[in-house]
Amino acid sequence: MKKSNALDRQRTVYLDGAFGYRQAIPFVYAEIERLARQKLSPEAWAYIAGSAGLEQTARSNESDFQHWKIVPRMLRNVEERDLSIQFLGHTLPAPFFLAPIGALEMAHPEADLAVARACGALGIPYIFSNQASVPMEECAVTMGETPRMFQLYWSRSDELAVSLLQRAEASGCSAIVVTLDTTMLGWRTRDLDLGYLPFLKGIGIAQYTSDPVFRRLLEEPLEAPSGNRRPSFDAIRTLISSAQKYPGGFWRNLRSGIGRKAVQKFTQIYSRPNITWTDLPFLRKHTRLPIILKGVLHPDDAKKALDYGVDGIYVSNHGGRQVDGAISSIEALPGIVEAVRGKAPILFDSGVRGGADAFKALALGATAVGIGRPYCYALGIGGQAGVEALLLNWMADLELTMGLSGCKNIAEIHSTILHRG
Ligand code: FNR
Ligand code: LAC
Repeated sequence: MKKSNALDRQRTVYLDGAFGYRQAIPFVYAEIERLARQKLSPEAWAYIAGSAGLEQTARSNESDFQHWKIVPRMLRNVEERDLSIQFLGHTLPAPFFLAPIGALEMAHPEADLAVARACGALGIPYIFSNQASVPMEECAVTMGETPRMFQLYWSRSDELAVSLLQRAEASGCSAIVVTLDTTMLGWRTRDLDLGYLPFLKGIGIAQYTSDPVFRRLLEEPLEAPSGNRRPSFDAIRTLISSAQKYPGGFWRNLRSGIGRKAVQKFTQIYSRPNITWTDLPFLRKHTRLPIILKGVLHPDDAKKALDYGVDGIYVSNHGGRQVDGAISSIEALPGIVEAVRGKAPILFDSGVRGGADAFKALALGATAVGIGRPYCYALGIGGQAGVEALLLNWMADLELTMGLSGCKNIAEIHSTILHRG
């Protein structure tokens, strides 16, 4: 576990600078985006940076933080600063965690593995995506004692869901994060313009292709793919990609068509828009891990979640990728904090772009703050080292924001330090 020390971090960067060494990950957020965009393919950039519709929610996720202003307090002795928090029985070095992000191999070949290693090195929790590029077991072994969680997409196969829950338990996960807002993919305009979805290339389905239940499902006959198109160059590329991504030998996979079958099976079972509150007890029955619901935006849903015995509420609008025009995450937070009344931890993400944003979310009542796209970009720019650098920088930024506002620790960050401007 790496304790934050903002002044050391600053000193290192300035000293490095004095000797002509520049850091791999920029500090100016717009520069991180610019570098990542340069590095990534147009498809990867569209998929990662893109959101739903006109991307209004994605923009307001970021800009609505400005409705809240910090009013720093003076002369409070902030020599000793402590960013640590308690979360699900763990002591964390900082109130950050990494949000689940699918198809990370589009950002970097080491994908989830590089992220897991970075988190393991610093003791920052990582939520494994259901759409990961690396099976959870492989990531978990690199993380030592660092807490990890598994994000579940409840597919059409209950049996697959149960298998994923069991694998998460065996991988030492501390909680199951059930994402509720993506029972279908939103209207992602950039991806639609390119006609590109990673999963159809076999990208981001590693939790499925490594799963015994999913592999068994592949033995059942599949419905024939619809349409009767002549094979095109792109179709052949898609076929090759899916054979490459499926575990085992490429030629064997190509001959057996297993990669293509896996993609087809995935598209048949991923989407499950018919889940309701009454399905939750099924999950409760099949796992002893705490259950956290991701994508809660309405206070009544938060209350309902508590009624159903849920262990944590995760305020998020999926980075604006699902419902364009939806309330920004930071605007939704206070209402949910009020509804939850301290009965469960509150996780938060969408639009957090630095230490001050995290500080505001904490002040409004979040227990821990999720980093999303920014770590994807850092991964794209610098792999594991890039993600580690970003985390160290944000910890330093938050530590200084906290101290300079007159707070020695996270518990001292109250809503009274904010002014609604
Ligand atoms: C996501 N997110 C996401 N959430 C989830 O529960 N499972 C997933 O597999 C993914 N995949 C995913 C891919 C990409 C490319 C992005 C950008 C996001 C949503 C993610 O967990 C988080 O809610 C958002 O990223 C938060 O918004 P910002 O701060 O990244 O804009
Ligand atoms: C996404 C899904 C995978 O946002 O959550 O692309």
